[in-house]
Amino acid sequence: MEKKSFYVTTPIYYPSAQLHIGHTLTTTMADTLARYKKMKGYDVYFLTGSDEHGQKIEKAAAEKGMKPIEYTDGIVKTFKKLWSKMHIDYDDFIRTTEKRHYDTVQALFQKIYDQGDIYKGEYEGYYCTSCESFFTQFQLEEGHCPDCGKVVDIVKEESYFFKMSKYSDRLLEYIESHPHFIQPESRRNEMINFIKTGLEDLSVSGTTFDWGIPITMDKGHIIYVWFDALTNYISALDYLNDGPLYEQFWKNNDEIVHLVGKDIIRFHTIIWPIILMAADIKLPTTVFGHGWLLSGGGKMSKSVGNVVDPLVLIDKYGADSLRYFLLREMPSGSDYYYSEDALVNRINIDLANDYGNLLSRTISMIDKYFSGNIPLIKGGFDEDLVSLSKSVIDSYQNHMDKFELSLGLQAVFKLIGKGNKMIEESAPWTLYKEGNLERLSVVLYQLVEIIRMSTIMLSPVLVETKAKVIAQLGIDKEYFTYEKLEFGSLDQSFKVAKGTPLFPRIEIKVDAEEKPKKTENDEKKKEINKMEKQNNNITSNKDNLISIDDFAKCQFKVGKVLEAEKVEGTEKLLKLSVKVGIDEVRTVVAGIALYYQPQDLIDMKVIVVYNLKPAKLGGIESHGMLLAAKGENDLRLLTVDGNLEEGAVVS
Ligand code: MSP
Repeated sequence: MEKKSFYVTTPIYYPSAQLHIGHTLTTTMADTLARYKKMKGYDVYFLTGSDEHGQKIEKAAAEKGMKPIEYTDGIVKTFKKLWSKMHIDYDDFIRTTEKRHYDTVQALFQKIYDQGDIYKGEYEGYYCTSCESFFTQFQLEEGHCPDCGKVVDIVKEESYFFKMSKYSDRLLEYIESHPHFIQPESRRNEMINFIKTGLEDLSVSGTTFDWGIPITMDKGHIIYVWFDALTNYISALDYLNDGPLYEQFWKNNDEIVHLVGKDIIRFHTIIWPIILMAADIKLPTTVFGHGWLLSGGGKMSKSVGNVVDPLVLIDKYGADSLRYFLLREMPSGSDYYYSEDALVNRINIDLANDYGNLLSRTISMIDKYFSGNIPLIKGGFDEDLVSLSKSVIDSYQNHMDKFELSLGLQAVFKLIGKGNKMIEESAPWTLYKEGNLERLSVVLYQLVEIIRMSTIMLSPVLVETKAKVIAQLGIDKEYFTYEKLEFGSLDQSFKVAKGTPLFPRIEIKVDAEEKPKKTENDEKKKEINKMEKQNNNITSNKDNLISIDDFAKCQFKVGKVLEAEKVEGTEKLLKLSVKVGIDEVRTVVAGIALYYQPQDLIDMKVIVVYNLKPAKLGGIESHGMLLAAKGENDLRLLTVDGNLEEGAVVS
């Protein structure tokens, strides 16, 4: 049977500054999907690159007294160094300054011009004087410059225009009849609504800057940077010569996936498909728009000064840990607040405690009870484990296929959790003491199978770790392929070789004043009583009563708990991911661990104080607070009657 193909791309990044962990997220997603598809036997092509033209780059180079190309050469080297340290295994890195790209852009432009979809006219557009940049209707944010937020001026210049308006109905029809074209769903609805408001023809050339690709027949005009940049996805495949890569990965391929951040989804789902339609080229299968990684001050950007350098994190924690953290924490499609504490927590909980410990405990027991030889069992497995492993594999694949990488990883950790639970419940040390070697063999074989299958599923993310696990288990690497992703596939015995911990635990530093005290029950009651008395005093004192206007300052919203876990090193705190809108998931730290188990909270509708200033609790930044009612001996979260959607306003 002919192999299926998979083409995955990242945006091509601007070499105007060094890349941060936001860019690293997209590229790690693409790399992981590429490895996952390769593991499943697909022919994969993975493209990334750099978007080097435009005024900004021209200006940045001039400030350094360099030619633009000298300047971008230097920065592109830093991109490649980062990707190599992150183990990003791309097939090609395209630079828009390369001849193959240059020629393709000119030819594509000419083709669309020749058939009458590009015409010359006068551009009346938006210009930001402080950034010295033109913007399209697409780029403005509520009428203001998307970069500096200042008011833009309307200016006039001669320009070529692309007849976008002609294609708007066709595009709308395409989006509506291809539910997988724009993902996730919330972005799709956003784009449909945008197109329905009407598309204007797009100015696709300018005469005010030089650093770009000129129009062949009118060299004073430089082709609009987005027309130039988007074309990279086909110029890298040699569309110009109808080359074999273009044949396989575009023309005859049903899985062409562009991964992009939410800020550039419009360019990819409106301008790009219309360029393709006009040039009679088929459209990509999916444009997936992920959310942003935020840090203090919002979206990471050099001008805000809140960027996080991935190279520092790789040196400190290792590439696999960073890869895992980014993919596990980033909810599919929505934003996520980054903090180093969350990174450390995630490594400690999942990788050190759950996965790493499972391996080292299993190997120690095989060493101790069977002189290092993995007992070979052919049947009589625990039924619940066999059926869990089936459902985990299904759920893992299902989520990975939908680009829901965090959910895919969560599925795998269900299996790992089951392994750790099995050790506690079956107490192998007791089985050994009692001489029940038959059951002990079953337990240890099952644990090895859990580790083996989990390692296969985690291998597209934890790319260095797989070899370490294989070495410690001593199992032939052919048992770590996708074909062997089935419980009970291990049918030969091997000898384990204990090694160093896969993920050593990282010390968590919690500031003394923030560290929740470990109180005994009596002390807790005293503290609670004291607090209650204080509160009674406040509410019974009429001077302290507030007006309705004061109350109106507080914003409350209905939220749904997606994830919950204990905050390491604290007794009272739980860290929750709460969905508070179609597209918004927040981290909220709540002092409710004495009253709720994390699993009890999943899917619960809660009331979130929405406009509370972020605060650090247990070392984690909390973005909101949950409303709860406290009785004498219990605390209950406030919830909402009926099935209101997340984000509904409470007043
Ligand atoms: N050059 C264009 C893309 C052209 S693609 C044909 C561009 N470059 S960029 O360097 O500014 O951004 C590239 C990508 O990085 C975008 O998808 C953007 O969403 C993503 N990110 C930039 N900051 C980000 C975060 N803080 N978080 C997640 N992704 C972020 O746009």
